[in-house]
Amino acid sequence: EDESLMVKRPPVVCVMGHVDHGKTSLLDAIRHTNVTDREAGGITQHIGAYVVEVNGEKITFLDTPGHEAFTAMRMRGASSTDIAILVVAADDGVMPQTIEAINHAKAAGVEIIVAINKIDKPGANVERVKQELTEYELIPEDWGGSTVFVPVSAHTKEGIPELLEMILLTAEVMELKANPNRAARGLVIEAELDKGKGSVATVLVQKGTLHVGDAIAAGSAHGRVRAMMDDRGRRVKEAGPSQPVEILGLNDVPNAGEVFVGCDSEKEARNFADTFIAQNKVKLLDETKSRMSLDDLF
Ligand code: GTP
Ligand code: NA
Ligand code: MG
Repeated sequence: EDESLMVKRPPVVCVMGHVDHGKTSLLDAIRHTNVTDREAGGITQHIGAYVVEVNGEKITFLDTPGHEAFTAMRMRGASSTDIAILVVAADDGVMPQTIEAINHAKAAGVEIIVAINKIDKPGANVERVKQELTEYELIPEDWGGSTVFVPVSAHTKEGIPELLEMILLTAEVMELKANPNRAARGLVIEAELDKGKGSVATVLVQKGTLHVGDAIAAGSAHGRVRAMMDDRGRRVKEAGPSQPVEILGLNDVPNAGEVFVGCDSEKEARNFADTFIAQNKVKLLDETKSRMSLDDLF
C-alpha cells in the first residue's frame, strides 16, 4: 500500500490472562466504569471493545474472557491486536490460561506487556510472578530482558498511569499506520441477533473509514450500514482505523473473527458474501473429503 497515504492510528490492545486475575477490573479502573458489576457470576463471556483517551492519544482495548471455555475468543483477540496486556494476579501467579494467553500472543506475533495486578492484596508477590514468567521468555528489563512489567492495582489504581504510558510508548515505537481514505476493512469482533434491531455486529475497523450508508459484506452476511454506535452507545456517522463500532443493517449474523469489507454497491457486497459462502462450502467439502461436484452446490 502507498506509504504516503498512511496516517498514524491508535494501538489496538488486547487484555488477556487467567480467569479472575482482574482484566475487566483494570479496564473499569482505566475507563471509570463498572462493567464487572453487571457480569453474570463475575465472569466475562464475550469480547468487549473500548476506546480510551490518554493525553489526547486514543487506545482501543479488547477485553477477553479468562475462563478456560473461551479459548477461541482469546485467540481471536490476540490475532486482531498490536499489543497484548498479560494480566497476572500477584497473589495467584502464572496459571493455565496465563500460559495459553502467552502462547496466543506469541503465535500472533504481538508485543506483550505484563501487568502484575492486585498488588494491594496481602498475599501479593511481584517477584515470584516475575520469576515464574522467565520460564516463558518474558524477562523484565531490570533482569536483563526486554519485557515491560508494570505492577498495578485495579482497586487502588496504583500503577495504572504507568501502564498507560508504557502502552503509548510501545505503540509509538511500532509506528502504527493506516490509510483512512479508502473503503473500510476489518474484523467482526462479535455479532448477535437482537429481537428489535436485527443483526447487531461489533466490528473493528482496521483500514479505511466505515460510514453510515456504506454497503458492506461481513463473512456470509451483507447489507448497508443503517446505524453505528461507538463503545459508549453513542450514535456515530463514521468510524476510522482502530475504531470499534456496533453496526446495524446486515441481513444475517456473521461469525466472530470474519473479515468485513466496505463495498461500492449492495450488489458488490452481496457478491462478496456469496463468494464467501461458496468458498466455505468448498472448504467444508474438502474437510469431509466428499466427492460431490461443484454443480451439486450451486
Ligand atoms: P474474567 O474476565 O472472568 O476472566 O475475570 P477478570 O480477569 O476480568 O477479573 P475481574 O475483573 O472480573 O476480577 C475478578 C475479581 O478480582 C473481582 O472480585 C475483582 O474485584 C477482583 N480484583 C480485580 N482487580 C483487583 C485488584 O487490583 N485488587 C484486588 N484486591 N482485587 C481485584
Ligand atoms: Na471475572
Ligand atoms: Mg473479565
